[in-house]
Amino acid sequence: MLTTGEFCVVIDLQGVTKHYEVGPVLVTALDGIDLHVDAGEFVVVLGPSGSGKTTTLNIIGALDTASTGKVTVGGRDLTDSSRGELFALRRETVSFIFQSFNLFPGLTATENVEFGMDVSGKSGSADPADILESVGLGHRLGHFPHELSGGEQQRVAIARALATGNSVLLADEPTGELDFKTGAQILELLAEQAQKDRAVLVVTHNREISRMADRVVEMSSGQIISDGPPEGGKTPLSELHW
Ligand SMILES: Nc1ncnc2c1ncn2[C@@H]1O[C@H](COP(=O)(O)OP(=O)(O)OP(=O)(O)O)[C@@H](O)[C@H]1O
Ligand SMILES: [Mg+2]
Repeated sequence: MLTTGEFCVVIDLQGVTKHYEVGPVLVTALDGIDLHVDAGEFVVVLGPSGSGKTTTLNIIGALDTASTGKVTVGGRDLTDSSRGELFALRRETVSFIFQSFNLFPGLTATENVEFGMDVSGKSGSADPADILESVGLGHRLGHFPHELSGGEQQRVAIARALATGNSVLLADEPTGELDFKTGAQILELLAEQAQKDRAVLVVTHNREISRMADRVVEMSSGQIISDGPPEGGKTPLSELHW
């Protein structure tokens, strides 16, 4: 059963571990994490390099599998799913945004968004121009990635993710290649998606930016060491310091 209805979307990890065998060495990337994200929540994941942030996101997005524990996304138990079911989840429920934008260099902004819709089986469900307009790029529809700034390219990547209509949005360091102000604007765009009842999970190194979140999950050595509202409460972009 795939439940992608707006009231069923939820991320639930229980006692999740992830081990990698590298030759004789056993690497523990995740050491028993519990995480629950509801539809409409904007959650930022913080933590030093190697603490398990990307591994967590990849397991939620069915790009990787847990070694032990239970993973439920959009009402589907991933620990119990066939490859076909995991493929359907990636197509129909989850959208990824990466640090390096991952746009197709030979496609215009509009074509990149259309391609995202094709891949997720949502061709024709919305007008790519409208979606690009909604992320502030209505005047760049025919531009190729190399003709756009980093922030603009990331907006195209967000538009492509939104065009799928998928209800779980996962972003791994989406602001990593951007200056602070542009990065904060990208985060604000992602925060708006949570207000549209999506579950939005964003990994960042930037603690200041994380103050815009509903919740901050802090990881260290494969564990979640804190999970709660940002220090000082949720803060709008205009009040952040840079
Ligand atoms: N395919 C793999 N094989 C072996 N070890 C891995 C693999 N992927 C990740 N790891 C290890 O798992 C741990 C967690 O990695 P992960 O990529 O989740 O960290 P991260 O918090 O995203 O770090 P960064 O901030 O540098 O991106 C690290 O020690 C890493 O070396
Ligand atoms: Mg990472």
